[in-house]
Amino acid sequence: MSHKTLFVTNALPYANGPIHLGHMLEHIQSDIYVRFQRAVGNEVYYVCGDDCHGTPVMIKAQNLGISPEQLVEQARKSHLEDLQGFLVEYDNFYSTHTPENREISCDMYKKCREEGYITTRTISQLYDPKKQMFLPDRFVKGICPKCGAPDQYGDNCEVCGATYSPTELKDPYSAISGEKPVLRESEHYFFDLPKAEEFLHDFIRHSSVLGQEMSNKLEEWFKEGLKPWDISRDAPYFGFEIPDTEHKYFYVWMDAPIGYLASLKAYCQQHGLEFAPFTDPHSPVEMCHFIGKDILYFHSLFWPGMLHACGMKLPSHIFVHGYVTVNGAKMSKSKGTFIKASTFLKYQRAESLRYYFASKLSSQVVDVDLSLDDYMAKINSDIVGKVVNLASRNSGFIHKKFAGMLSSVPGNPQLLNEIARTREAVIRGYDSRNYHEAIKAIMQLADEANRYIDREAPWILAKEPAQSEHLQQVCSDGLNLFRALVTFLSPVMPQLAAKAAEFLNCKLDFATVHEPLTAHKINEFEPLYRRIEKKDIEQMIEASKEDLKAATPHSTHAQATGTDTEFEPLESEITIDDFAKIDLRVGTILEAQAVEGSAKLIKMQIDLGFEKRQIIGGLKTAYGDPASLIGRQVIVVANLKPRQMKFGLSAGMVTAAGPGGTQIFLLAPDSGAQNGMRVH
Ligand code: MSP
Ligand code: ZN
Repeated sequence: MSHKTLFVTNALPYANGPIHLGHMLEHIQSDIYVRFQRAVGNEVYYVCGDDCHGTPVMIKAQNLGISPEQLVEQARKSHLEDLQGFLVEYDNFYSTHTPENREISCDMYKKCREEGYITTRTISQLYDPKKQMFLPDRFVKGICPKCGAPDQYGDNCEVCGATYSPTELKDPYSAISGEKPVLRESEHYFFDLPKAEEFLHDFIRHSSVLGQEMSNKLEEWFKEGLKPWDISRDAPYFGFEIPDTEHKYFYVWMDAPIGYLASLKAYCQQHGLEFAPFTDPHSPVEMCHFIGKDILYFHSLFWPGMLHACGMKLPSHIFVHGYVTVNGAKMSKSKGTFIKASTFLKYQRAESLRYYFASKLSSQVVDVDLSLDDYMAKINSDIVGKVVNLASRNSGFIHKKFAGMLSSVPGNPQLLNEIARTREAVIRGYDSRNYHEAIKAIMQLADEANRYIDREAPWILAKEPAQSEHLQQVCSDGLNLFRALVTFLSPVMPQLAAKAAEFLNCKLDFATVHEPLTAHKINEFEPLYRRIEKKDIEQMIEASKEDLKAATPHSTHAQATGTDTEFEPLESEITIDDFAKIDLRVGTILEAQAVEGSAKLIKMQIDLGFEKRQIIGGLKTAYGDPASLIGRQVIVVANLKPRQMKFGLSAGMVTAAGPGGTQIFLLAPDSGAQNGMRVH
């Protein structure tokens, strides 16, 4: 294979949310690609970073009472930790809020302006008079103009699916302040996309950049016609100020892809490398972007449009993937299938997900379903049952009978041809991003290897001294086949491969994998992979439901950040008589102690005025030290049927708001209320 230099990027995750398994599909896909390209001798520069700018980060930082800079630094650290946990090894994981990105963004903007690509126009937009800011579509809510559903976002209705502009909403309000927005005019800066139309049309038809499926998709957009792209936002905004303007900022999507270059530039500076070849249109470097289907427009039109205007290197490949679904449906917070990367890593091995995704990924833009039962079955059968088992079933004899020494001649030379043949299929699969084909070829070889061992039955050969030499050959073949399997899997499962290399006492190399190890000493076998149990998965789902509860913010306005919140659905309607059945009384906590053997429960003695009660409640996760509760007035459900618990009788319930976990907020009456008073 000829030597190539690749600059590979993965879309930059937004700084205002956690990394989840949807993101991981892409990071895993690109990391496998990079590891493979390096394994076959290509030179690869691989970068990513956080996408930091925009209103959601600004508002989230305000809600948390920290600066946006602090927020993005926290996010970067935790994102990097998650990615490393998944064995995704970027050369640099940077951010878009950096001096390098500011410099390149401003330079590119000025170049675009020089070339006549920047225009201005006055537009009117909804403005929050209380917050004194223009409102992005997602921060305006109101009644859907189509179906009348309340509390819909300014861009589309989640109930009927209609799309519209925020000015069409009925009774609009600012999701940040609750205030009624007003229309206001402001001058905006535009990138003249139609000016690049002809160039872009040619560019996207160049089949090696996008592939047929995505080119066709783009043709539809060309039919609709390209429009100038609004690249400015008014202060207050977290971003870079546009040169030679007052209080105008680059829209987050303007400087986000430039963040790829900034991340690489910082890496080049740290390593004394020349950066120019990565932007020079005449250098042989190939720029490859991995992205999801939702951000195709930005990467195939806006981004090359800007690069073209600046006379810079264009993307060589835009690799587009579909979405992750879990158990056949969109990831859902309430079902516990919105799984954060960090939660997954607490219960599962990173390589299991890497393997599962690899076994499903192709170059087609299709959604990838993580079916959890299938996932468990596949890891247990393929990795534990076929690959690792091959090592364990053969290494025992080599150690017991031959002092850890492999045979000096292969038993079945034909198997070596199988290895070489498999290698071709594996290389083709990885290189074309049809990882599922690579995995299929690897598993076919694994099946063949296990059939060979079954046929030769070393456990029987071991009983016949005359067969000793043959036994050594068969088991050595088994281990050489194992070596081939883990070599081929190494871009997907680098940790397993490293451990296997230690056990085999050799390097794993695509180029020499068909040359068997002979008269070679191996190390003791240690278990390489654990089976996945059903309970590991159940616990992960439960923990994901807990994550949802913990993420529910205090402020009602935080709902404006969109993805972080889900409110409990409302109970069905009741009458005043229904309510009257619930006897709520004011009480004072006289004593409170932790319940031994429970992480959540606190046992309280409560004075209800007319009597004292013992009530056991799950308050510990939120309130910590039980002593902090003593003396507090609370509202008690006084006619709740008493319950005999393992830890004693609980006669009633203390009321609190919130979903649970650390988010529990006790109700209390205003001062003056007497113990025993009823709540009406
Ligand atoms: N910040 C922008 C990208 C800027 S690139 C210059 C963004 N961020 S994102 O966090 O929303 O998404 C990052 C990547 O993850 C995108 O490529 C997106 O398609 C991908 N995914 C996010 N959720 C996903 C799934 N559920 N499934 C698969 N990929 C998805 O967009
Ligand atoms: Zn609607």
